[in-house]
Amino acid sequence: MSSRATDTVIRTPRLVLRRVRPEEDFAGMHALLSDPLAMAYWSTPPHESEDQTRAWLAAMAETVPHEGDDFIIEYQGRTVCKAGFYRFPDIGYILAPDLWGQGLVAEALAPIIARVFERGALERITADVDPRNTASIRLLEKLGFAETHRAERTWLIAGAWCDSVYFALSREDWLARTA
Ligand SMILES: CC(C)(COP(=O)(O)OP(=O)(O)OC[C@H]1O[C@@H](n2cnc3c(N)ncnc32)[C@H](O)[C@@H]1OP(=O)(O)O)[C@@H](O)C(=O)NCCC(=O)NCCS
Repeated sequence: MSSRATDTVIRTPRLVLRRVRPEEDFAGMHALLSDPLAMAYWSTPPHESEDQTRAWLAAMAETVPHEGDDFIIEYQGRTVCKAGFYRFPDIGYILAPDLWGQGLVAEALAPIIARVFERGALERITADVDPRNTASIRLLEKLGFAETHRAERTWLIAGAWCDSVYFALSREDWLARTA
């Protein structure tokens, strides 16, 4: 087991944010990570095997505190989302499609962002988004992120080149928004 505290739990009005439990989270995360709709703009194609999801969960479990701060999100007792930092300073998130459009990921990310800035773990959070991913871009803007730049042909995913639009949120801007 890594030195990562396994008992970190954050509760929001509708969600429980906690560290990954690979066995318990397998079914929910495999359903999500193998879903072509949810994975349409992800940095890898949908998982084709259970082993891929097991390796993904193991890597998440092995992340140590100076590398990242990542959470599994439960909604009504169901594992439905991952949100946080697999590797600082890039923020990442994915939610089960049947729950999109209810503001759940914004609800999850608010305390995760507050946590890294309040602890002084980061001065700036970044995000790398496919320009076609309007829901993700809208989500980042709602949280106060601003576009910094764009680049073409940044990801080769299942034989197709994808572009990136980059966003950032500084600690200073976050403090000004939440003061
Ligand atoms: C991006 C994602 C996390 C958004 O989560 P969410 O909880 O549905 O986010 P919100 O409910 O706060 O919605 C964000 C905004 O996108 C809009 N939106 C939601 N679903 C949408 C959809 N399917 N198409 C277009 N816009 C959508 C909403 O209208 C909302 O804007 P608004 O509050 O101004 O109305 C979710 O769609 C997802 O998991 N997508 C797949 C994984 C992914 O792309 N991750 C990001 C990689 S960079």
